[in-house]
Amino acid sequence: TTGLTGRHFLKELDFTAEEFRDLLALAAELKAAKRAGTETRRLSGRNIALIFEKASTRTRCSFEVAAADQGATTTYIDPTGAHIGKKESVRDTARVLGRMFDAIQFRGDAHATVEALAAHAGVPVYNGLTDDWHPTQMLADILTMTEHCAEPLERIAFAYLGDARLNMGNSYLVTGALLGMDVRIVAPRAYWPAEGVVARARALAEASGARITLTEDISEGVVGADFVATDVWVSMGEPAEVWDERVADLAPYAVTMDVLRATGNTDVKFLHCLPAFHDLSTQVGREVCERHGLSSLEVTDEVFESEYSVVFDEAENRMHTIKAVLVATLA
Ligand code: CP
Ligand code: NVA
Repeated sequence: TTGLTGRHFLKELDFTAEEFRDLLALAAELKAAKRAGTETRRLSGRNIALIFEKASTRTRCSFEVAAADQGATTTYIDPTGAHIGKKESVRDTARVLGRMFDAIQFRGDAHATVEALAAHAGVPVYNGLTDDWHPTQMLADILTMTEHCAEPLERIAFAYLGDARLNMGNSYLVTGALLGMDVRIVAPRAYWPAEGVVARARALAEASGARITLTEDISEGVVGADFVATDVWVSMGEPAEVWDERVADLAPYAVTMDVLRATGNTDVKFLHCLPAFHDLSTQVGREVCERHGLSSLEVTDEVFESEYSVVFDEAENRMHTIKAVLVATLA
């Protein structure tokens, strides 16, 4: 057991390294049990509300499949058809759903909204992504790292390239710091995490022995890395008009084969939380690429489809790790 019964899962900063590691161990156990066909249902009769203010493929499906595997039900709440935040306050919605459900997942913009839900629901609340943090993604990414690198976490180095001001950059920096890892944020200075986040990460690193690097220099940032990660250059909720500026600022930080070679590590692996603009197969990606004469954005198709890419293991691990959060907090 993880001792996390009844806890919220809102951001990495709320957890100790030991608690985070316990969740990873539970996820690995649940993954192995599902594969072996020996999974036992620990959440029968539980009901979980899933509020999505933004689109989702992986997070929604992970909560739904994880809950079903464990015998719990889910209710998907699309705010276009619910009162939350419009006709009814977040606080009142929290108190209503808290009377009906055993737990609530929220994905949306403001991190304050998920904190408000947690303050008033009376049941565990899970952050399925806000502007500031993506903690369930971190469980999946670190589990994927442990599966693809035999070293203990304290000996794993990873570099995140691209827009590091938002959920993914913040979460990587703080999670790596918490777990004693070698974390590199590789981006133009204007795209580094906010000073407050960096300060929190540095404080965690002092306790954990983590090494933290923030650099604009790609070679310095990636050398020796076991993992190279990136994310979209324009996140959900940002206006389409920022694309051109982002491409101009971040194109040098696209993950290419040259970037992987610059790690000097022939076993380097590539991570991306997805969705990814690695080819011209989506409308947004195609339009932006055409304007700039590119064939990919944050990662080349060559890297994405290469033997270095573990993005679909990472996507699968969203489900096993979210299941661990459900079991740890509700069973
Ligand atoms: N990585 C991730 O959170 O994916 P979705 O937006 O599809 O949930
Ligand atoms: N930074 C991205 C992550 C998507 C999973 C976004 O917020 O849209």
